[in-house]
Amino acid sequence: MNAVLRPLPAPRQRPMVAADLDAVLAIEVAAYPFPWSRGNFIDSLAAGYHAELRFDSDGTLVGYFVALPGFEETHLLNLTVAPPRQRRGHGRAMLERLAGWAQARGDRALWLEVRQSNLGARSLYQRQGFAEVGCRRGYYPAARQQREDAVVMRRELNAEADRGDALD
Ligand SMILES: CC(C)(COP(=O)(O)OP(=O)(O)OC[C@H]1O[C@@H](n2cnc3c(N)ncnc32)[C@H](O)[C@@H]1OP(=O)(O)O)[C@@H](O)C(=O)NCCC(=O)NCCS
Repeated sequence: MNAVLRPLPAPRQRPMVAADLDAVLAIEVAAYPFPWSRGNFIDSLAAGYHAELRFDSDGTLVGYFVALPGFEETHLLNLTVAPPRQRRGHGRAMLERLAGWAQARGDRALWLEVRQSNLGARSLYQRQGFAEVGCRRGYYPAARQQREDAVVMRRELNAEADRGDALD
């Protein structure tokens, strides 16, 4: 037999569109006790937020992010990896993709909120250069009609450009 082994294609990303929302929501409800609604995604897409899907090398949808671009900064609103595909580097890869996109548009910072109890996500963000800069009291819904605090995190971008400015 003369089999030719071809490597699997690399993971890839593309913009999220409304036709993707059934697949996105299947991951969303599996990943969160308080998931975004279909309306949250529809509103984000309609408002022109930056939203991308990530596919594994076998073509399976493994995750997505939604981010709100502002003046010289972007706010990450949702970053999710399908539970069976977590801890394989997809979250880190999507964050780096977002950081590259934000840097290319001239942003100086990325912002996000994360549940205080979400130690896995906080660890990911810290490892990817985010610092904890504040707290929003009772920001998230929680079980038994309670609320949970959000940790506010910020990552500086364009460090090279800033250093260049300083030399001028
Ligand atoms: C948080 C989330 C996006 C991380 O994505 P992921 O693909 O699983 O993470 P990665 O494989 O890229 O992890 C990169 C690093 O982050 C840290 N990390 C990620 N998840 C972690 C966890 N559950 N516990 C501890 N550290 C974690 C680790 O340092 C990890 O590196 P390692 O695997 O070599 O130890 C994903 O777990 C997820 O979708 N969770 C449910 C939804 C959610 O909480 N989203 C964030 C809301 S703010």
